[in-house]
Amino acid sequence: VILLVLGKMFCKYVGSIWFIMSVLVFLCLVFVWMIGEGRVLKSPTINVVVSICDLSCSNFFLYMSALVFVPSGRLGFSSLLVLQDKWEQIVGQDSTLEIFQHITLMTLDTIMKCAFSHEGSVQLDRKYKSYIQAVEDLNDLVFSRVRNIFHQNDIIYRVSSNGCRANSACKLAHDHTDQVIKSRRSQLQDEEELEKLKKKRRLDFLDILLFARMENGKGLSDKDLRAEVDTFMFEGHDTTASGISWIFYALATNPEHQQRCRKEIQSLLGDGASITWNDLDKMPYTTMCIKEALRIYPPVPGVSRELSSPVTFPDGRSLPKGIHVMLSFYGLHHNPNVWQNPEVFDPSRFAPGSSRHSHSFLPFSGGARNCIGKQFAMNELKVAVALTLLRFELLPDPTRVPIPIPRIVLKSKNGIHLHLKKLQ
Ligand code: HEM
Repeated sequence: VILLVLGKMFCKYVGSIWFIMSVLVFLCLVFVWMIGEGRVLKSPTINVVVSICDLSCSNFFLYMSALVFVPSGRLGFSSLLVLQDKWEQIVGQDSTLEIFQHITLMTLDTIMKCAFSHEGSVQLDRKYKSYIQAVEDLNDLVFSRVRNIFHQNDIIYRVSSNGCRANSACKLAHDHTDQVIKSRRSQLQDEEELEKLKKKRRLDFLDILLFARMENGKGLSDKDLRAEVDTFMFEGHDTTASGISWIFYALATNPEHQQRCRKEIQSLLGDGASITWNDLDKMPYTTMCIKEALRIYPPVPGVSRELSSPVTFPDGRSLPKGIHVMLSFYGLHHNPNVWQNPEVFDPSRFAPGSSRHSHSFLPFSGGARNCIGKQFAMNELKVAVALTLLRFELLPDPTRVPIPIPRIVLKSKNGIHLHLKKLQ
C-alpha cells in the first residue's frame, strides 16, 4: 500500500512509469511473500535431494536388521530370471539391447521383494515405469540445479520450469512410497494379518520401521517413515542397476576376462539351476572383475559433505568449516597417482594379497556414513553376473559406446547397448 501511495505521489513529478513500477514491485512482494510462506508451493518436496539422500543415524540399526534377509537369496534370483527370460525372447543373434532400463526394473523388483515383501512383479507391471522415470528425472534435475547459480535460491527454483518438474517428479516418487506404506499399514490393522505376521519367519524392512519406537516411545512420524522408505527404495535399486549395467559393459569390452569368469562359474554352478549363499564366496576371479568394474565405473561417482570442522591438507592448504565439499570417487578411482594405468581394466589389482591404500577404492564410500547395503549389493551383483554369464555372451556395440555422465548414480548419456548372444 505504501508503495502504491508513493507511486501515485511520484507519478505527479516523474511520470506514470514510476507508478506502474511501484505496482509491479508491490505485486512481486506479495508473490514472494506467498511463496516464501509456502502459501503457493507448500510441498516440501522441493527438498528432494535432502529427503532422498538424508538419513537419520538413529535408525541405523533398522537397516542392519533389514539386511538379514531371505536366507536362500532366491527372491533376488527370481527377479533376475524374469529379466533373463525377457531378454531371451527379445534378443536375436544380431540385435542390440539397451540394458540399463531393463536392469533398473529388475533391481527395483529385487528391493521391493526383499525389503518390502512385494508380491507380484515390478518388471511386468507398467505402473512402476513412471516411478523409475521420476527417479531418473530427479537425478538429472539435481545436477542441473547444482550448475545454475540462480537456482541456488529456493524461491527462484520453485517458480522455474525445472523446479516445477522436480516438484511433480517428487510427488510421483512420494506417491509410490506412500502407496507401499499405506497398503502395509492397512494390512497391519487387520488383527488376523498381524498374527500371521508375528508368526512369519522374518520381519521385513517396512515392518521393522512400522513397529519401531523412538526413544520417546512414539512411532516414526509419517514424514520420517516416508523419508526412510524413500532412501532405501532409491539407494537399494538405482545404485545396483548402475553397478550391474556397467559391470556387464566392462565384461563385454574385455572378453578374455568375461570368459575366465564364465569358466569359474560353470565349474562352480554347472548349469546354474541353483545358487546358494556359500557359492557367493567361491568365485574369486568374478569378484575381482566386479571390483575392477566398480573402480572404473563407480555407481555413486561422488558424495558431498558440509565440513563440521576445518580440514588442512599435508601441503598446508585448508578448507574452512561450514563449506560444502564434493568428494569425487570417480576422480579418485581414475587418479594415476593412486592407480597405475587407471583406464586399463585389470582385475589383478584386486587379487588376494595385492596391496593398496585403504582409501583408494571407495565405491561404497568410507567412514561413519558408508553404504550399509554394501553386503547386500555385492551379493546381488555376484548373483546377477554369475547367472547372466551362464546364459548369455555379452558383446559391445561399437556403434554406440556409452558416455558416462555423473548423476547421483553413474549413468550413460546414450544408454548402455550390448549384443546379447544366447549360449547353448
Ligand atoms: C552397487 C551398489 C551400491 C553402491 C555403489 C552404493 C554406494 C553408496 C554410497 C557411496 C553411499 C554413501 C553416500 C554418502 O555418503 O552420501 C551409500 C549410502 C547408503 N546406501 Fe548404498 N550403495 C549401493 C547399494 C545399496 C543397497 C542395495 C542398499 C539397500 C539395500 C543401500 C543402502 C544405502 C543407505 C541406506 C545409505 C545411507 C547410509 C547413511 O547415510 O548412513 N545401498 N551407498
